[in-house]
Amino acid sequence: MSLKEVYGPYFKIGTAVSAKDLRDPQAQEILKLQYNSITCENAMKPRYLLDENENRGNAEKYDREPAVRFDRIRDCLEFASANGIGMRGHTLVWHGQTPEWFFMEGYRTGEGSVPAGRDVMLARLEHYIRSVLEFVQEQYPGTVYAWDVVNEAAADSGGLRASRWTQTAGEDFILQAFRFAKKYAAPGVKLFYNDYNTYLPCKREMIIEHILKPLLAEGLVDGVGMQSHLLMHSPESAEYDRTVRAFGSLGLEVQITELDIHNAVCSERSMEELAKRYREIFSILLQAKKEGAANITGVTFWGMRDETSWLTEFRKETSYPLLFSGNFMPKMAYHAVMGVPRVHYAD
Ligand code: XIL
Repeated sequence: MSLKEVYGPYFKIGTAVSAKDLRDPQAQEILKLQYNSITCENAMKPRYLLDENENRGNAEKYDREPAVRFDRIRDCLEFASANGIGMRGHTLVWHGQTPEWFFMEGYRTGEGSVPAGRDVMLARLEHYIRSVLEFVQEQYPGTVYAWDVVNEAAADSGGLRASRWTQTAGEDFILQAFRFAKKYAAPGVKLFYNDYNTYLPCKREMIIEHILKPLLAEGLVDGVGMQSHLLMHSPESAEYDRTVRAFGSLGLEVQITELDIHNAVCSERSMEELAKRYREIFSILLQAKKEGAANITGVTFWGMRDETSWLTEFRKETSYPLLFSGNFMPKMAYHAVMGVPRVHYAD
């Protein structure tokens, strides 16, 4: 049995993949065996899709219709569609990993440069979303089943995050992005709002009241993504559970989109604790699903194995946060996750 088989009756199991993973035959085998969803760890972000040379070299021509290049995502789309694996598109609109020049008048940076106005930015936004969705839908129909339309727009303190997007397009950029995504998305493609630390109570409330409810009122959003870059003791399980249920009660799909649990100690004892924490998280998810409290439709791990996890760089210490290590050896955490459905659905 594999992860996708054990969880098949409940929700998709996915992983983030790097360009390197996709070229590694061993990683490819694991992808086909264990997962029915993949997310490009970086390649689908605006930094890699926006064509810098083209746009900046012909700024007038592309001022309202930015040039987009797709050579970096073909591999992944090809692999996914050839193997019947679905993809989460991550991410259309984000303040991170989006080049500074994209937000500027004439795509010019440096001395004397000025941020572009709302009208131009909304035109760029629409054209970008349209280009990306149409490419993916025409060339690989049915492969990308969900999009993170907007990523990380809420601040941890509970307000809207001030960013180049709010500064240029305006504070309604989330609504605008979803309107464009809805306009160009193929029928059945699910539109998600995605964020981290969604279990901080004031951030959760802000996301529900000021992001999700307005989107729901216009019928623009299908789901909410809880990134879930967790620590060993934070958030408390109860708070995580509350969050899953709070989002679930809105009638939206809930997906765990970037799961990992930072752990900087690789002793047997510590890896046992990691396994226990994973067991708790998956129990929460299955229980909420079983009770009909949250329509959880997917859980994606942020990386295939400890050695390539982004957390080591992000946390500035070696992290052992995932289910596999080394040559894709399953860790205790893997067996713990595999065991949860047996307990929950024994009857
Ligand atoms: C991370 C990638 O894993 C890194 O390789 C990259 O250097 C930075 O971005 N939230 C997100 C993801 O939405 O896109 C981020 O991915 C991790 C945090």
